Amino acid sequence: MIEIRNLYKVFGAQMILNNMSLTVRRGETKVIIGRSGVGKSVLLKNIVGLIHPDSGSIKINGTEVTNLKEKEYDRIRMEIGYVFQGGALFDSMSVGENVGFVLNEFMNLDKKTVKDKVHDALGLVGLKDVEDLMPSQLSGGMKKRVSLARVLCMEPHIILYDEPTSEVDPITAAAINHLIIELRDKLKVTSIMVTHDMNSAYQVADSIAMFYRGQVIADGKPDEIKNSKHPVVQQFIHGDAHGPITDDESLIFGHVK
Ligand SMILES: Nc1ncnc2c1ncn2[C@@H]1O[C@H](COP(=O)(O)OP(=O)(O)OP(=O)(O)O)[C@@H](O)[C@H]1O
Ligand SMILES: [Mg+2]
Repeated sequence: MIEIRNLYKVFGAQMILNNMSLTVRRGETKVIIGRSGVGKSVLLKNIVGLIHPDSGSIKINGTEVTNLKEKEYDRIRMEIGYVFQGGALFDSMSVGENVGFVLNEFMNLDKKTVKDKVHDALGLVGLKDVEDLMPSQLSGGMKKRVSLARVLCMEPHIILYDEPTSEVDPITAAAINHLIIELRDKLKVTSIMVTHDMNSAYQVADSIAMFYRGQVIADGKPDEIKNSKHPVVQQFIHGDAHGPITDDESLIFGHVK
């Protein structure tokens, strides 16, 4: 469903994606792990065309998207839901307007249908009677859930979740994990989920890919990652302060030689 081949992305003197390849099969949930700053969000933004790669290929459902014109890309984007790391809500719009934005702007639906869909999507993320609140009146975790509801409203075939359970309490996190699994099993959604929460990762993943130095250094079933002999993977999943990953890792890797 999503096929990334030999992707490169450089920002200034920093090479973020360094010949990265990754395949996400139809209907699977691929979890991406890796240190802060390694390029997880940059990869998701490349997939939806918010950032363009320097070179390499991204195929979505068989279509090469790296050389699409904006209008053509928009058609692909309508199939992809993106739960942004920071929520990315419009500050000047109410929660209801935020969640229903795509339905109102791009789909020919009457007001009542949009209202019902917004209500249902908010219900799925455990929020009730919040339609008239403004984003500034929400907690961080509520914003995250509103962002998730906005994606659910679109009923996309592909969902990219950027840390959907950060900033939410453990019970809400468990409910979100459950929802992600349900979307896969019932609606056959294909997804990529970025997370730092290894419990979530093991729970929702069909496979887990670990990013390191601009590449995928391990990719396998949760058990395979847990039992990986790779010292970098072991250090990361156990959160060890000592090991091959050092604090100045990003500096070592960060400069194009
Ligand atoms: N638009 C941009 N312009 C310049 N540099 C950028 C841009 N976007 C991201 N970067 C840089 O790319 C690197 C990777 O950023 P990214 O947001 O992908 O990290 P991440 O792996 O998602 O980290 P975190 O776990 O903290 O969210 C960082 O060094 C960041 O500063
Ligand atoms: Mg990120």
